[in-house]
Amino acid sequence: MKVLVTGGAGYIGSTICSALLDSGHVPVILDSLVNGRIEFAEGRNFYKGDIEDKELLSSIFEEHSDIEFTIHCAALIVVPDSVKKPDDYYTENVGKSLELFKMLNELGCKNIVFSSSASIYDDSPTFIVNEESNLNPRSPYARTKYMMEMILKDFCVAYDMKAIALRYFNPIGSDPEMRTGSYIKSPSHILGKLIQVSSGKEDIFKVTGTNWDTRDGTGIRDYIHVWDLARAHVYAIEKFEIIFDSKDCKDVTYEVINLGNGRGTTVREMVNAFENVIEKEINKTETEPRQGDVPGAYANADKAFKLLGWKTELTTEDGIRDALVWSDKWDKTLKELSR
Ligand SMILES: NC(=O)c1ccc[n+]([C@@H]2O[C@H](COP(=O)([O-])OP(=O)(O)OC[C@H]3O[C@@H](n4cnc5c(N)ncnc54)[C@H](O)[C@@H]3O)[C@@H](O)[C@H]2O)c1
Repeated sequence: MKVLVTGGAGYIGSTICSALLDSGHVPVILDSLVNGRIEFAEGRNFYKGDIEDKELLSSIFEEHSDIEFTIHCAALIVVPDSVKKPDDYYTENVGKSLELFKMLNELGCKNIVFSSSASIYDDSPTFIVNEESNLNPRSPYARTKYMMEMILKDFCVAYDMKAIALRYFNPIGSDPEMRTGSYIKSPSHILGKLIQVSSGKEDIFKVTGTNWDTRDGTGIRDYIHVWDLARAHVYAIEKFEIIFDSKDCKDVTYEVINLGNGRGTTVREMVNAFENVIEKEINKTETEPRQGDVPGAYANADKAFKLLGWKTELTTEDGIRDALVWSDKWDKTLKELSR
């Protein structure tokens, strides 16, 4: 099947494109390169442009009239930036997605898979959340994801569209074949920080917060290998019709599915796993939580298995190993490019 992938030159979108290609599908990438990397789109159907560019969208659908799905990954994604510049985030994520959805409806591309985020969930006393759990998006970024979900849901009711919002937990790792991976210079997520410290780019790893009500006092997350995440999108488009035709989803045109491995990993456990993979200890310290930190959550991923027949296959250690190999490769690529 042919699939429009917005944000297909980014970390997750490019991995989704690889998974689509490996399964015999044809991705068509639309990415403005406001972030992302041109290298990730090389050799693939690629259009450089904005998701709200009506003329460009029309010409993409003229050239690829057989596009059956849109996987909408394009977004700005940095939580602290969204706090500093909410106007940008609401314009780029919400305003432009609204225009995109309007255009997709007009162009007759009514099947959407949307990159949503577990950051829209409220804290849960048990740390585990399912798709019915309370929502409480606590940053402008998370609120843009929540708003996009609501817009999409209303569009599905009104305009005969169908959509699956996939709520990602914490993606780690890279394409196991090393075609693409994380490209952020100063990563703020835990694995990126651990790699920065182990490679000598940063001095010390800070375990921020050790008094949460978790099994070892540190925050808990659900790390999902980005390749498993990408595979779920392939399952989503392949099972799309079956899902919406099924008895469970009768009269339903919008579904939400958690994508996580269903097991929580604390910060201390993640640090241990990292040290086991690299076979040495890293320089680390414990500090107070940062402002706005939350204890975290992990996924009940039963619905993903029930509707998509999908579950994770790769471990946190696989994610760590792939991230390390990719980081080395990407450093070398950047050096080559700067020559
Ligand atoms: N990375 C995570 O931890 C995470 C977690 C949950 C959800 N998500 C969601 O997954 C999606 C992909 O995230 P990612 O980590 O690959 O981020 P990324 O920044 O690597 O990729 C986003 C891509 O979208 C493109 N883009 C942004 N605005 C655009 C616009 N207006 N028009 C066209 N292209 C535009 C960027 O150039 C970039 O290539 C996002 O929607 C994000 O909210 C990510």
